[in-house]
Amino acid sequence: MPAKPVIIQNGRLIDPVQGLDQKVDLLIEDGLVASVERAGSIEAGDRDAVSAEGLWVLPGLIDIHVHLRDPGHEYKEDVVSGLSAAVAGGFTAVVSMPNTSPVIDGAAQVEDLISRSKAASYARLWPAAAMTRGRAGKELAEYDELKAAGAVAVTDDGSWVADSAVMRRILDYAHVCGLAALSHCQEPTLAPKGQIHEGRISTRLGLSAEPAEVEEMAVFRDLVLARLTKKPVHICHVSAKSSIDLIRRFKNEGVQVTCETAPHYLHLIDEDLGDYDANRKMRPPLRTAIDRAALREALLDGTIDAVATDHAPHSVLEKEVEFCDAAFGVIGLETSLPLIIELISTIGLAPSRLVELMSSNPAKIVGVPGGTLRPGSPADLTLVNPDLRHVYQVEKSKSKSRNTPFNNREMTGRAVATMGGGEIRYRLG
Ligand code: DOR
Ligand code: ZN
Ligand code: ZN
Repeated sequence: MPAKPVIIQNGRLIDPVQGLDQKVDLLIEDGLVASVERAGSIEAGDRDAVSAEGLWVLPGLIDIHVHLRDPGHEYKEDVVSGLSAAVAGGFTAVVSMPNTSPVIDGAAQVEDLISRSKAASYARLWPAAAMTRGRAGKELAEYDELKAAGAVAVTDDGSWVADSAVMRRILDYAHVCGLAALSHCQEPTLAPKGQIHEGRISTRLGLSAEPAEVEEMAVFRDLVLARLTKKPVHICHVSAKSSIDLIRRFKNEGVQVTCETAPHYLHLIDEDLGDYDANRKMRPPLRTAIDRAALREALLDGTIDAVATDHAPHSVLEKEVEFCDAAFGVIGLETSLPLIIELISTIGLAPSRLVELMSSNPAKIVGVPGGTLRPGSPADLTLVNPDLRHVYQVEKSKSKSRNTPFNNREMTGRAVATMGGGEIRYRLG
């Protein structure tokens, strides 16, 4: 049954793809944006009217790096809980990571995820499948079948494809099949036991550590292969200044590289690990104040294309243990938007840049609809109150897991409603 027409009135539309930042009325029909007009110019008539006075109207946020843990570890998260947390954080679509049990490396698994996500009716799910069978780094998965089943990307996230001949073929075939290639850059032999970033803090805390070179070496190899193959590569969760410097240089040389960072690298550093809080332990690890400053600068100058959460749920069983035994990863779907809004006042991030980083560029990187509210686009949108002060309390999270470094943090700005295909998927309160 087609949804009733809806009109969103008097909201500030920020849509860099259309070059718009102005107050508008936005008309939704049949799940699509029907028209965008100057505020006050569309009569509500008998349509459902939503007042967006004082709110931002954004193209729906898209998170291209989310671990849904389904199948296999549903006690940490599943399709329904993860996509519910996504819409609560303002995301209308997410890309799921395939490091599940079993690994997502076949068409039937991709189809199953998509059909269960549709039944859930929260955020849209665009699955990523494994780059290599079983994520073993040796043989390529069946890319054409995965693409036909609905996968949008391939990645062995959690590990790096260390065999350069295999990675060269991956970049070639992924591109031919219309799949984005997402690389988790971690050279596996230099510091395989690294718990945190190698430096003064790791020495003081007495923890085995990994230097930023672990990431830098892997990023360099992937950039060189992107240049050799003339195919795109996307670098996941960049954490280090040295990686940023390389990516900037190769971009300037015309190599097709995009990259993401995660909110935790933009806010936290290794010094925050002083109390051995396992909820600050992830891969790659929190690095130094110098790295954080470089990431912030790269967010502003366009070297970083996207913010993605690397939402990585783990239960208390895996986190409330000795630091060295704790699992790597933090959740992030419900804290990402406020943490990036905070950068508007602290580092001068433009709101239109926020939309590029969290919606338009993610859509382009994985080649999915969305990222703009141009007429004819899906009516996937996020209504944001940029001034709403709140304290993030993880016990209220829609996620099944509680492993956040941001519990009890004061935040400003959050999604107050999330719409997918013209229907409300989340509403605050
Ligand atoms: O911290 C992380 N957690 N980094 C990864 O690469 C994998 C992820 C996970 O799956 O838990
Ligand atoms: Zn990763
Ligand atoms: Zn990940």
